[in-house]
This record gives sequence, structure tokens and C-alpha cells, in this order.
Amino acid sequence: MVPKTHLQCILFLLSLLYTTCRLEMESDFDKWVSWNMKSHQRKTILENKRSGLDLKLQQAESNKTILTVSKDGGADFNTINEAINSISPHNTRRVVVSIAPGVYREKVVIPESLPFVTFLGNANDQPTISANDTSSVTRSDGTTLKTFNSATVAVNASYFIAINIIFENNASYLESKVEQAVALRISGNKSAFYNCSFYGVQDTLYDHKGIHYFKNCFIQGSTDFIFGYGRTLYENCTLNSVTKNVTSITAQKRSNSSLDSGFSFKNCNVTGSGHVYLGRPWGEYSRVVYSYTFMDTIVLPKGWDESWGDQKRNMTVYYGEYKCSGPGSNLSKRVPWARMLTDEEAQLFIGIDFIQGDTWLISP
Ligand SMILES: *[C@@H]1O[C@H](CO)[C@@H](O)[C@H](O)[C@H]1NC(C)=O
Ligand SMILES: *[C@@H]1O[C@H](CO)[C@@H](O)[C@H](O)[C@H]1NC(C)=O
Ligand SMILES: *[C@@H]1O[C@H](CO)[C@@H](O)[C@H](O)[C@H]1NC(C)=O
Ligand SMILES: *[C@@H]1O[C@H](CO)[C@@H](O)[C@H](O)[C@H]1NC(C)=O
Ligand SMILES: *[C@@H]1O[C@H](CO)[C@@H](O)[C@H](O)[C@H]1NC(C)=O
Ligand SMILES: *[C@@H]1O[C@H](CO)[C@@H](O)[C@H](O)[C@H]1NC(C)=O
Ligand SMILES: *[C@@H]1O[C@H](CO)[C@@H](O)[C@H](O)[C@H]1NC(C)=O
Ligand SMILES: *[C@@H]1O[C@H](CO)[C@@H](O)[C@H](O)[C@H]1NC(C)=O
Ligand SMILES: *[C@@H]1O[C@H](CO)[C@@H](O)[C@H](O)[C@H]1NC(C)=O
Ligand SMILES: *[C@@H]1O[C@H](CO)[C@@H](O)[C@H](O)[C@H]1NC(C)=O
Ligand SMILES: *[C@@H]1O[C@H](CO)[C@@H](O)[C@H](O)[C@H]1NC(C)=O
Ligand SMILES: *[C@@H]1O[C@H](CO)[C@@H](O)[C@H](O)[C@H]1NC(C)=O
Repeated sequence: MVPKTHLQCILFLLSLLYTTCRLEMESDFDKWVSWNMKSHQRKTILENKRSGLDLKLQQAESNKTILTVSKDGGADFNTINEAINSISPHNTRRVVVSIAPGVYREKVVIPESLPFVTFLGNANDQPTISANDTSSVTRSDGTTLKTFNSATVAVNASYFIAINIIFENNASYLESKVEQAVALRISGNKSAFYNCSFYGVQDTLYDHKGIHYFKNCFIQGSTDFIFGYGRTLYENCTLNSVTKNVTSITAQKRSNSSLDSGFSFKNCNVTGSGHVYLGRPWGEYSRVVYSYTFMDTIVLPKGWDESWGDQKRNMTVYYGEYKCSGPGSNLSKRVPWARMLTDEEAQLFIGIDFIQGDTWLISP
């Protein structure tokens, strides 16, 4: 097992080296190689059953293709939808959709049949994808969209990556009555977001299901603005409340104790307006952990809200904190069922192992 695995790994790295050099990303790539090698070696020693990146992903990454989109013309496509529609179903290669700066007013759905899609924006002038649907908007057949279909961008596909993209749902900025209006729904597995922003009010980021990674992201909203039953590591992200009164940042929906679901916020910054709870339990076994996170004065001393509807779920939730800082992180008035994690307990949540990152995370 072990020698074969190493050989596969080396062959794959060589083929990736060739492709990546052509794309002129050597320095990032070198960093990734050493990081992934270390991670791989560590994993192989600790746990013989895992073997680096999964095979489908290795193949997709070794055979990338690029599509360009610019609303101002001069690119392969003028809209993101045209680019998505041009990809043949069940593609096996990474398709990088390179999106020029500007505001793209369109709703985008990436079906499950299109894995390995990357949205790539310019770091210094990030493109915005913006729509303004809400849960109560009616279709021509009279049915309502509901929260699920209000999303500006919805991803059903696995292995989706977004880099330097602004996802926006602007409905509630314009309305006096705020309702559910999702900026991004991620339902695909093994998905990563780097340097992205998510703007909305209620229900901004629907972290629906699957294992996900968010790094250096800015997430803004009011009620339950990060919700769903994803198993997700959020690293170095800003959670910015725009609430006018009191709300909860997360509504994590782990609905039974055997679900491998939970949100882990590491090295994040909780800031903004109003007063916030760190979480409230959409699911009875809701699981959320904040570690090494700066919490501004907006975080209520109790920290966590136990009620969902008329039920109390304080006996079954898992709400933990570890080595946080800032005025909102004072634990002296926390609800008694909040957990102050030990080093050992925190360990499970604070590395990429939480999301099996060694099998699918690649350098942006
Ligand atoms: C890369 O993808 C193209 C288009 O799907 C295919 O024709 C080609 O065989 C693939 N190459 C490799 C090395 O997989
Ligand atoms: C995406 O997934 C949802 C829920 O599984 C489904 O209702 C919807 O039709 C899917 N959309 C596409 C375009 O695949
Ligand atoms: C949402 O955007 C559409 C098209 O841009 C526009 O027609 C509609 O009035 C907007 N709705 C709201 C609530 O602003
Ligand atoms: C969305 O609303 C914000 C705040 O009002 C505004 O700055 C931004 O331009 C709006 N986006 C679009 C696409 O209209
Ligand atoms: C993300 O942003 C950081 C800080 O602005 C920058 O150093 C980095 O190059 C960006 N990453 C990518 C993949 O563009
Ligand atoms: C996501 O992938 C992991 C690892 O392969 C798997 O255990 C899990 O069941 C998948 N989740 C979903 C929602 O497909
Ligand atoms: C963390 O995010 C900030 C932006 O909020 C960025 O300036 C910084 O470079 C990021 N740090 C790392 C280590 O990526
Ligand atoms: C703010 O929230 C508190 C507690 O939920 C409530 O009593 C109060 O009426 C709210 N104020 C406004 C202006 O909505
Ligand atoms: C837990 O939830 C999952 C997903 O909804 C379901 O498949 C599973 O049967 C549930 N398990 C129990 C013990 O209720
Ligand atoms: C958190 O964000 C606020 C508002 O942007 C900023 O003033 C503060 O410096 C940030 N704190 C940390 C520790 O990043
Ligand atoms: C937990 O919830 C129960 C109701 O289910 C309630 O009786 C109890 O007082 C709560 N405990 C705490 C510590 O809040
Ligand atoms: C936390 O709050 C308590 C009482 O509210 C106070 O006595 C204590 O000094 C605070 N701790 C820190 C580290 O600010």
C-alpha cells in the first residue's frame, strides 16, 4: 500500500508541476507542494487509509482549461451563464472561468453534472455577481422561490472553487421589510472559497451540505447569516453583522447526533453593528466552534441562544469556544451549557483534518 501510494503521489506531482509551470504560478505551487507533501507524509504515518488527493481530482487538475468572461466583450463569453452552459456535462477537467472586473447581474446555478469549476476574479478588482431574489418572490406558475432558490449563485456541483469573487444578494438593502435572501448556496461537496465576499442581510450564506473551506473571506448579514448543515472550516474570515437589533450569526442545522456536520471558525473576526449571539440551533444537535477569534463588543455576554421556535435545545447542542480574544469573548457570563474547549477537544476543529482537507484542498 504505502510504496504504491508514494509512487502515485510522485507521478501526480510531476505531471502537475509541468501543467502548473505553464500557467506561471510557480511560487504558489512550490508552497503547495511542500505543504501537501508534509501533510501527506504526516497522514500516511498516522493513518494508512488515506492517500493524498483523490484520483478524480488529480486527473482534473492535471488537465485544466480556461474560459474567459467579460461583460465588456473581448472575451470568450459576456455572461457567466453562457460560460457555464458551454461546459459539457460530466466534465473531467478543471474548468477555470476567469471573470473580468465588473458587476454581473445574473443568477447562476451550477448543476451537479459540472464538477471541477473554478470562478477566478482579479485580486485587485474583484467581479461582483449580484441578484435580488427573496424567498417570497413568485415564479410565473405562482409558486414561491423559498429560501433555497433565492440564491444569487447556487452550486450543486462538487469540487467548486471561487477566488476573488463578490457574491451579493441586494434585495433587502432596498426593502424596509427584510426576508430570506441568499447570496450563495453551496450544496456541492469539497468546495473552497478564497478571498471572497458575501453580502446580504438575512440568510446570506447557505452552507447547505458537504465539506467546505472558506479562507480570507468577508461575510456580511443579519439574521442567521451563516446557516445550513455543511461541515466547514472558516479561516481568517470576517463575520460582519449589519443587524439593527439582536440576532444570531449562525443557524447550524446538525439535526441528529450521527451527522458529521458543524461550523468551525478559526482566527476570524466578529464585528459590525447591533448585538449578536454566536449561534442558535436550527438543528437539535447544532455544532459550532469559534477558536482564536476576535470578538467585538457586539457579541452578547450570554454568547449563545438556545431557542429555535418554541423549543429549547440546550441539552443537545455543541457550542464551543477556544482561545478567543476581544471584549465579546469574556466567558464569565456565558450560558452554562457553552463549552470552553480543552486543547484536546479543540484539536478536532482547528485543522484541515476537520474537513479531510488533505484529500481535496489544493492551492488557490
Ligand atoms: C484532457 O482533456 C481533453 C478534453 O476533454 C481530452 O481530450 C484529453 O484526452 C485530456 N488529456 C488527459 C491527459 O487526460
Ligand atoms: C440543484 O439541487 C437542488 C436540490 O437538490 C435541485 O432542486 C435543483 O433542481 C438542482 N439544480 C440543478 C440545476 O441541478
Ligand atoms: C431586482 O432587480 C431587477 C432587475 O435588475 C429589478 O427589475 C427589480 O426591480 C429589482 N427588485 C428590487 C426589489 O429591487
Ligand atoms: C447593492 O447594494 C449596495 C448597498 O446599497 C450598493 O453599494 C451596491 O452597488 C448594490 N449592488 C448593485 C449591483 O446594485
Ligand atoms: C488573497 O488576498 C491576499 C491578501 O490581500 C493576497 O496576498 C493573495 O494573493 C490573494 N490570493 C489570491 C489567490 O489571489
Ligand atoms: C463529502 O465527501 C466526504 C468524503 O468523501 C464524504 O464522507 C461525505 O459523505 C460527502 N458529503 C456529501 C454531502 O456528499
Ligand atoms: C487575513 O485576512 C486579512 C484580510 O481580512 C488579510 O489582510 C491577511 O493577509 C490574511 N492573512 C492571511 C494569513 O492570509
Ligand atoms: C430589540 O430586541 C429586543 C429583544 O428581543 C426587543 O424587546 C425590542 O423590541 C427590539 N427593538 C427593536 C427596535 O426592534
Ligand atoms: C440522521 O440524519 C441523516 C440525514 O438526514 C439521516 O440519513 C440519518 O438516518 C439520521 N440518523 C438518525 C439516527 O436519525
Ligand atoms: C476586526 O474588524 C474590525 C472592523 O473592521 C477591525 O477594526 C479590527 O481591527 C479587526 N480585528 C482583528 C483582530 O482583526
Ligand atoms: C435548558 O432547557 C430546559 C428546557 O428544555 C430548561 O428547563 C432549562 O432551564 C435549560 N437549562 C439552562 C441551563 O438554561
Ligand atoms: C470578564 O467580565 C467580568 C465580569 O463581567 C470581569 O470581572 C472580568 O474582568 C472580565 N474579564 C476580562 C478578561 O475582561
